[in-house]
Amino acid sequence: MDFRDISKMRVTVRKFDQRQVEKEKVDLILEAGRWSPTAVDFQPQRILVLNTVESLGKVRQFCTFGYDRKYVELAEECDTADHKHNVYYYGSPLVFLICWDKTACWTHPQNGQSSGSTDATIVTTHMMLEAASLGLGTVWISYFDHAKARELLNIPENFEINGMLYVGYPASDFKPNPKMSGKRYPIARTCFDNCFETPYRTDFFEEAAEVKFETQED
Ligand SMILES: Cc1cc2nc3c(=O)[nH]c(=O)nc-3n(C[C@H](O)[C@H](O)[C@H](O)COP(=O)(O)O)c2cc1C
Repeated sequence: MDFRDISKMRVTVRKFDQRQVEKEKVDLILEAGRWSPTAVDFQPQRILVLNTVESLGKVRQFCTFGYDRKYVELAEECDTADHKHNVYYYGSPLVFLICWDKTACWTHPQNGQSSGSTDATIVTTHMMLEAASLGLGTVWISYFDHAKARELLNIPENFEINGMLYVGYPASDFKPNPKMSGKRYPIARTCFDNCFETPYRTDFFEEAAEVKFETQED
């Protein structure tokens, strides 16, 4: 698969099979993150691999809370009647918690802005696309209780939490969310031709991606 195929076939998976992700694939995902560019090559990412029953039990605790339907989507089976104790865990057998070290990242000398979050985001993106190329599903998770995660996972004070990446084989009955996955604005809405008054026009036929995953039946 070339990059274009991978970037188009990747969709968010919110229902995972219980099959473990092979160590070789975990290693390849981490390796893809390792080769990400970071500002001044400072590599401030700090990644926690969570794949034991005990660790995943902690993830369940800090990603369980209520929501406003307007902002959040979740797999139906994670929704509770009162919407107050929903579990945003989706049965993932492998979770990467991606942090960045405040004491190890580049800071813009003029505006004082740290590059840590950008660096960690690029690393996560590389990992997500490598996982897709290996036939795995992923979901990027921002919506969880960071303070509780810090406490339960004993995250050092100088580490900022950037997010989580859940990884695993999609459940055999997984279906992409039709409201979000495979839908993108046309290029002309988000890209501009030399000035922001002129939308950029591509010659691409902007078709929806076809989703193919390896499932347990394969
Ligand atoms: C920075 C970021 C944060 C996200 N946070 C969550 C989240 O907390 N929970 C969740 O279920 N999905 C989350 N997502 C997944 C998005 O909802 C999803 O990528 C988007 O709807 C497009 O769908 P697609 O990934 O299938 O193309 C997040 C994605 C990104 C890039």
